[in-house]
Parts: sequence; C-alpha cells; structure tokens
Amino acid sequence: MEFKFDVSDIFPCSIVEINPSLIPPGFAGDRRGLTNVVAKVAEVVNAMGDASAAAQGLSNPITTAERLRKADQTVYLLLDREAKGGKGVVTGMLKTGKKSLYVFDRDGQHHHVSPPCVLDFYVHESRQRTGLGKQLFEHMLKKESVEPAKLAIDRPSEKLLSFMTKHYGLEAPMRQMNNYVVFDGFFPEVGSAD
Ligand code: ACO
Repeated sequence: MEFKFDVSDIFPCSIVEINPSLIPPGFAGDRRGLTNVVAKVAEVVNAMGDASAAAQGLSNPITTAERLRKADQTVYLLLDREAKGGKGVVTGMLKTGKKSLYVFDRDGQHHHVSPPCVLDFYVHESRQRTGLGKQLFEHMLKKESVEPAKLAIDRPSEKLLSFMTKHYGLEAPMRQMNNYVVFDGFFPEVGSAD
C-alpha cells in the first residue's frame, strides 16, 4: 500500500513494531517532528486496518490507531522499502495482544487463560501467497517468544486457518464460543509443568 509520504523515511527496517505510543522505532526528532510522525503512523495503521477489514468482509476495522492507543497491543508492519523508487510501500500488518479468555479443551473442560492472541493479520492482495505472511508471523513468534500452538486466534478466516496448517501443521481447530480458535498443543499436557 502506498502513501503520500515516504514510508521508508519513517520506518527504519522492513518489519517494525508499533506500540500504543505510535512512535516508530529509532525516531529521533523534536516535538514537532514527533507530532508529524505519529500522525503518519496513525494514517498507515488506519489504512492497513481498513484494508484488512475489507479483505475479511467486515464492515468495521479491527485495527485503528485510536484503538491501538488505548490497548496493550502490538502492530507489526511489513514494508518493501525499495518499492516506488525508494519511497516504500507497506505490504503487511499483524496485530497481537494478550486477552483474558475462557476456552474449552476437547474434553469440554474450561480454562481461564490469558494467552497471546492473533487479533488481525493482512497481507496486501498483490503480495499474498508469496511468503510474506510467513515472514511477518515468524518475526512475531520470535519477538514474543511464543510457539504457534500457544496462540489463540480471534475469528480466523479460512485463509488464516489454511496458513496455520500449511506452515505450522496445526489442524482441526477448536472453535470457541467467544469466536476464538485454539489448536492441540494450546493446553498444557496433563502432568507437565507448563
Ligand atoms: N486461499 C486459501 N489459502 C490461502 C490464501 C487464499 N487465497 N492466501 C493465503 N493462504 C494460505 C495458504 O495456506 C497458503 O499456502 P498455498 O499458497 O500453498 O495454498 C499460505 O497461506 C501462503 O502463505 P504466505 O504466502 O506466507 O501467506 P500470505 O502472505 O498470503 O498471508 C494472510 C496470509 C495474512 C492470511 C493473507 O492471505 C491475507 O491477508 N488474507 C486476507 C485477509 C485475512 O484473511 N486475514 C486473516 C483474518 S483472521 C485474523 O486476522 C485473526
């Protein structure tokens, strides 16, 4: 996705982590520069949130800058900094955060847990199925030191379920009443110290 401004000026590397401050990593400017850069980051987050909602057929975006400001969540942005003559384009977005959830295992036992959750995930239409989603997801797994099976996923699309099967061998999703999905391996093994 393109913007009026140079995204490669604002974001210093190909995957950046945006937290509720909306200050991009490596920012070193004065107060005016800060206001300016935060407005641009908000524009990028809102545009990627809108595109993700459209791709999922949702009428309202899950990800907005305003919501991000109020929640303890992280948005990872994937960039192609060389595109458009070095202006750069944003190619993907992944939002994660911890949620307090009641989830049922296959035996019908309920568990009150606060797992890291995949809340929103989108790769630009022109770049889907080229491995960018995997690249972004792997970055998040490393940063958050989490295994794929330990994540809960909020209302996954069929594409995301297929993605989890293809890349992580996670099949037979356990669909929860709260619309989250977890996989085998989410719950600690009986007798394990997890
Ligand atoms: N149909 C079915 N499966 C798909 C599709 C598709 N159109 N696109 C991606 N996948 C799955 C498949 O398993 C595919 O493997 P294959 O091509 O061998 O069948 C695999 O993902 C490809 O992996 P990547 O290239 O690494 O993934 P990609 O860059 O396409 O990103 C993503 C995956 C984010 C799901 C992307 O397809 C997308 O943005 N889809 C539209 C929005 C969406 O559904 N987001 C998830 C919403 S649910 C949530 O966010 C909690």
